[in-house]
Amino acid sequence: MDVPEVVRRLWEKYGLEEKVRGHCIAVAEFALKIAEEVEKRGQKVDREALILGALLHDIGRAITHDPFEHFLKSAEILRAEGFEEKIVKIAERHFSAGISAEEAKKLGLPEKDYIPESLEEKIVSFADNLTFGSAVRDFDSFMRRLNKIDEEYPELSWFTASTRHRAIQMKEEIEKLSGMRF
Ligand SMILES: [Fe+2]
Repeated sequence: MDVPEVVRRLWEKYGLEEKVRGHCIAVAEFALKIAEEVEKRGQKVDREALILGALLHDIGRAITHDPFEHFLKSAEILRAEGFEEKIVKIAERHFSAGISAEEAKKLGLPEKDYIPESLEEKIVSFADNLTFGSAVRDFDSFMRRLNKIDEEYPELSWFTASTRHRAIQMKEEIEKLSGMRF
């Protein structure tokens, strides 16, 4: 994929690691593939927003790798850099299968909804869940990752349980819209 200049500049400015850049490219390519299938079935996708959002969703990892913090940093950076809100929200809502306002409060995050809503937000979040480093795997791999989180952080099981539920819903919705199977 040709990475737009505006993305390269930001990656450089914030010093995003090469590994994370590779991950973002893999997510963008996978997201685009899903978008193409969705469009074949008649639903319009804002490809420009999708690609920019996917390539920049983890820019906050230049500041922190904390799973519960990096997406906030991504949104903060993109807002400060003047990106449109539809792109900012792709980053802000990409974590796992989203976080409700109530869950955010329990997790000590600013109390608001981080659930992917637009089609572009959903596709990037879903593509990210299935992209391990730069490799795209199947949906079961994501479920197994949640099982591992349960083993390592049993105190988060209330959150992984609702994540499973939301992730399955999102998978079904995207399968229906794209005709793909994950
Ligand atoms: Fe992320």
